[in-house]
Amino acid sequence: METIELKVNGRTRTVHCLPNATLVDVLRDHLHLTGTHIGCDTTQCGACTIHVDGDAVKACTVLAVRSDGAEIMTIEGLAENEASHPMQKAFNECHGLQCGFCTPGMIMSAVDLVNKGFASDPTAVREGLSGNICRCTGYQNIVAAVMQGASEMQEQSS
Ligand code: FES
Ligand code: FES
Repeated sequence: METIELKVNGRTRTVHCLPNATLVDVLRDHLHLTGTHIGCDTTQCGACTIHVDGDAVKACTVLAVRSDGAEIMTIEGLAENEASHPMQKAFNECHGLQCGFCTPGMIMSAVDLVNKGFASDPTAVREGLSGNICRCTGYQNIVAAVMQGASEMQEQSS
């Protein structure tokens, strides 16, 4: 077993895990943060997307031991003081989800796109979310949600 330390959603956590444990397994099975989903386990669907040191990362592809010391944010850490994050609110208001399985990963990717200035228009959003697969929505409402969430995030930061 390996011992690693992660700062997850602002809280320092010590985890004992197998050397081949993935980051998503550690989040879900060791820390019980099951908002991060596993859809494919092969880096295709994006359901497992989280932020590692400020970048969107597919957590099924990263060995947990490689993240030792990293700062991690999952969907559970996005809301502040129990108020939904603007991107969560926008997905809700724009009906950017149906079954919701892809939604945590979509939202984490969308927030990263906005943070990096890559959500300037619907075409850029579609391009930026090309690593996240949704089986339900047809993407129209997801793109609308990301555009609304981006504008609310920009308003909040100005
Ligand atoms: S579960 Fe990680 S990309 Fe699908
Ligand atoms: S809402 Fe069902 S997979 Fe996207």
